Amino acid sequence: MKLRIDKYLADMGIGSRRQIKDFIRDGLVSVNGKTITSANAKVDTDCDNIFFGSELVEYVRYEYYVINKPAGVISATEDAHAATVVDLIKEAKKDVFPVGRLDKDTEGLLLITNDGMLAHNLLSPKKHVDKKYYAEVLGTLTSDHVKLVEEGLQVDEDFKALPAVLEIIEADSTHSSCYITIREGKYHQIKRMMEAMGCQVTYLKRLSMGALKLPENLKPGEYVRLSAEDVKKL
Ligand code: URA
Repeated sequence: MKLRIDKYLADMGIGSRRQIKDFIRDGLVSVNGKTITSANAKVDTDCDNIFFGSELVEYVRYEYYVINKPAGVISATEDAHAATVVDLIKEAKKDVFPVGRLDKDTEGLLLITNDGMLAHNLLSPKKHVDKKYYAEVLGTLTSDHVKLVEEGLQVDEDFKALPAVLEIIEADSTHSSCYITIREGKYHQIKRMMEAMGCQVTYLKRLSMGALKLPENLKPGEYVRLSAEDVKKL
């Protein structure tokens, strides 16, 4: 991709376009070993070597962050009233967005990126990407529920869930905890599935999405940056 040098360096966080013009005037920017004199110069993001002083500045087009979304934060890019997941990633470019949504009170794995194609592939209903959650509920889950979920739970008149996997961790006469893995992402899907089984979700956390897993040591609000290579491996 061809870009103006001032945009290239601004995109990579070297400074504002105004500052970069000054850096160029001061002879601090070189392309393929030659000091450049004009901010209009075009560079190729794939093959030119751009130096700012002695620092090689590589062009990173896409950014990927895995955040452990805390409860109380909304899955959006901006909001007039509440903090968003994007606000939590201080170093991110302006154009990043969360891939899909978790409810405000849900915790856990959320991918944040500016890679629209990857987001499309993960969210497309046709791709049936597995999403695994840990849930605590009021109510008693039983092996009958495991079977119903496996066969495709009738959630309400209009919605029958695709076959999914329910693994009960613990269940007594009032409370249960479980893992549940679904392959679609309908509005409040887990909460509605639990309600259809006579249970009320009190805590919900997403553990994985496709091959992407929430790192165990990542506390709510913390995030890790993935390289494009990490994402390709997924
Ligand atoms: N299902 C829900 O009910 N809530 C979420 O946040 C995610 C899945």
